Amino acid sequence: MKISVFVGTSLDGFIARLNDDLDFLPAGGGEPHGYNEFIASVDTLVIGRRTFEKVLTFDAWPYGDKRVVVLSSRPVDLSAAVGAVVEQMSGPPAEIVSRLAASGVSNIYLDGGITIQRFLREGLIQRLIITRVPVLIGEGISLFGTLPRDVRLRHIATRHYPSGLVQSEYQVE
Ligand SMILES: NC(=O)c1ccc[n+]([C@@H]2O[C@H](COP(=O)([O-])OP(=O)(O)OC[C@H]3O[C@@H](n4cnc5c(N)ncnc54)[C@H](OP(=O)(O)O)[C@@H]3O)[C@@H](O)[C@H]2O)c1
Repeated sequence: MKISVFVGTSLDGFIARLNDDLDFLPAGGGEPHGYNEFIASVDTLVIGRRTFEKVLTFDAWPYGDKRVVVLSSRPVDLSAAVGAVVEQMSGPPAEIVSRLAASGVSNIYLDGGITIQRFLREGLIQRLIITRVPVLIGEGISLFGTLPRDVRLRHIATRHYPSGLVQSEYQVE
């Protein structure tokens, strides 16, 4: 089982404004920076309830027919995700991973700030691909949070793009 994060942040480390606005990220995902190749390489997405709610405001469901697991501790109305392959789970991250592994999943794309932080704390993420957008927004929803101990990372590569995107890939040790 491999769990990866592929996320865009402001240079000061925010994944959204406090009101969930993503207007500081390049429109339409910006210039190609590996997202299509990345999403093609995963078999399942695991996203937090707040990310799910944001995605529902997009013009179209962005995940095609990929299996999407929405994490929430309360009932979530999944019917709004028309045409999507979507289900809900909740529980400790390790339990979620075990359930997914038992159903044959091997490559997960994990998304949502709180969600990423919880899995990271449990040592369940293997790869981080973070694309920094050249903007400072001062405040917002943080990608990272407090940790019970340091998380050591191995730098794999840093790629930069003409529009100013800087993407760093790390393996979690
Ligand atoms: N820049 C980017 O690339 C990017 C990527 C993704 C998201 N975003 C933005 O980030 C914001 C959302 O991030 P966020 O940090 O606020 O929240 P989030 O991680 O999307 O969702 C958090 C919620 O997920 C549920 N959850 C997480 N782990 C769980 C578990 N193990 N068991 C049960 N429920 C679990 C909980 O829902 P309940 O409270 O219902 O229990 C929790 O409150 C949105 O604005 C979104 O647009 C940006």
